[in-house]
Order: sequence, then structure tokens, then C-alpha cells
Amino acid sequence: MRILGIETSCDETSVALVEDGKTILKEATYSQIAVHREFDGVVPEIASRQHILHILPVLEKVITPSELSSVDAIAVTQGPGLIGSLLVGLGVAKALAYSVKKPLIPVNHIEAHLYAPHLFADIPFPYIGLVASGGHTLLFLVRDFHHYEVLGSTIDDAVGEAFDKLAKVLGLGYPGGPLIDRLAQTGNADTFLEPTKRPSLLPDTERDRYNFSYSGLKTSFTYRIQHLEDKASRLADICAAFQREAIDLLLRKSQNALKDYGLNTFVISGGVSANSYLRQRVTEWEKQGIHTFMAPLAYCGDNAAMVAGRGYHDALAGKYGNLRTDAYSRLDFVRKGKRILN
Ligand code: KG4
Ligand code: ZN
Repeated sequence: MRILGIETSCDETSVALVEDGKTILKEATYSQIAVHREFDGVVPEIASRQHILHILPVLEKVITPSELSSVDAIAVTQGPGLIGSLLVGLGVAKALAYSVKKPLIPVNHIEAHLYAPHLFADIPFPYIGLVASGGHTLLFLVRDFHHYEVLGSTIDDAVGEAFDKLAKVLGLGYPGGPLIDRLAQTGNADTFLEPTKRPSLLPDTERDRYNFSYSGLKTSFTYRIQHLEDKASRLADICAAFQREAIDLLLRKSQNALKDYGLNTFVISGGVSANSYLRQRVTEWEKQGIHTFMAPLAYCGDNAAMVAGRGYHDALAGKYGNLRTDAYSRLDFVRKGKRILN
């Protein structure tokens, strides 16, 4: 089954053609990062207009009008994301589906991220899945593609958002994650934050065993940095210390879930799964028998291949959309800042 995927939830305009949820036949992505950089973050209004400008040129790189009738369905990110950006992808997907009389598959962006590692490996169920991005930090118990539970989430900022905010405070630019990651590689976390002074982030109480919290970490770093006289010369150490705290929290809560559910398969996805410290740490878990699946770097962030891949499984389950009624969806269960209670 050949699915055309369209992703426009944030600042990437992406289109991909994927066969049977695995084989990426063709793909193209236009990244708006350079446009948003001068504002130190994504400006929603500009993002929507950029999608309008680029969606057809990107689409044309992947498929010609005459080839469109050879696809089996059109999958599109329905939400969550920036409303104006989502509407561009949805509008185009609906128009294409309507004109070539193919079914529309509305895809959940979080489910698409979680699917990204599945494009490259046959991952055994059940597993503990972590989606760590600029908008979400969610921990799942995944039984199969259609049965999963949200075990925990951030109770305030998303982890990627914390990276971006700290980078702004440090004057590094946007997006913060890759910039902090790169600087951290030459830094020493202990030099900035001695082991005895490490903050105890969201202790493992019964309520918060699988939850995350990042606004306090960002605030405490911002405060410490404000009082530093030699900020510029200590940038790498600051980045290494922040990265260690932020990622270690992700890992501790994920480890709680792996242990409690007796599982040894771990899947990480979302923009933050590109983090080199995170990837190195989970590779070390292999020695403890925990197998981690993650997408290649190019597929950690937003891309249409994961949308088409996820759409294939939705299609197999008969989860087609309705061209006349489907619209932007906020999807309550992934709403940010909601403490998950068990
Ligand atoms: O999944 P994504 O592309 O978009 C959302 O759905 O949010 O994630 C973007 C987020 C940004 O906050 C970015 O700073 C972060 O992922 N990110 C990273 C790295 N690369 C991207 N965070 C930490 N380390 C990285 N290497
Ligand atoms: Zn995303």
C-alpha cells in the first residue's frame, strides 16, 4: 500500500511517499528554521505563510499530478500543532484526496513521532515509548500500534522547549537543542554543577513516577547564569550541565516504567531523541539488556515519512477520515502541562 504523507504541524513543510509503512520511496522537506531564527523561535503566523508558499513545490518534488492516482491514500498530520500550519497541510491533503478520489487518513502527530523508529526496524511489542519534542514529553506503555497508555507527561514545559528557552537566555539562537548539544560536547557538567549540588528534579513519588518537569530546571539555570561574570567562557560547561540534568530526568522516568512493567524494549522519538548524550546513554543500557530503538537523526524531528508510515497502520485498521468533517484536532490526551495520575 502506497501512502502519500503530508506534515505541516510546525516549521517543516514535508511530503513523503512510503510503501507498506516501511519503504520511503521519495521525500522532500523544506525547513523554515532560517526564517524563524531571527526571532529566536517559531512565529506561528510566519510559519503558516511559509507552509502556503512551500507546500506545492515540496509536493512536486515527491509526486507529479499524473502519479497521484497511483497512491492508495493520503495521510496528513491533523494535530497537535500550530493551528494555522496544520490547516495548510489539511487543506492541501483534502483537496488532493477529493480530486483523485482517494481516502484521507488524519494522523496524530505524537503517534507519528512514535512511529518514526518503526520505519527502520521491526520493533517487538510491548515496549515503553518516549516522545520528547519541542511541544511534548510523553511516556507510553505501547502494547501495539493501536493500544497504548499514557503513563506520564510533563507537568509544565516540554523538554525541547526547555532546551530552546535556555539557549535563548544564553544568546545561542534557535533551535536550542542542537546548539546546546554541540557546545556540551566540549564542556564539563561537573565544573558548572558539582555532583553534590545537582537538583532533585521531580522526585519519584507515586504520583510523579512517570511524569516530567522542566520549568524549574530552566529557571534555576537562568538564575545561576544571571549571576555569572564569565558566562561566555563557561558556555560549554553550562550546556553540558543543563543537558545532563534534562536528559537524566527523561532516562530516570523511562527506567521507572521499564522496571515497573518488566520490559526491556525502549523506543525514543521526537526532536530531542537526536540528542547525542541521550543516544549515548541508551546505547550503554544495552549491557543491561535494554534494547533501544531510535530513528536516524534526520527522522527524529518533524518529517512526512513518519506520517505516511503511521497512516499505513491506521489504514490497515480502517481508521480513515471523513473528507467532509475532519478538521484540526487538539486531541485532549496530549494536552501539554497536564499531570498524569495513575
Ligand atoms: O519533534 P520536533 O522536530 O518538533 C516538535 O514536534 O516539537 O522537536 C523539536 C525540538 C526542539 O525543541 C529542538 O530544540 C529539539 O527538538 N532538539 C534537540 C536536539 N535536536 C532537536 N534537543 C536536544 N538535543 C538535540 N540534539
Ligand atoms: Zn514534532
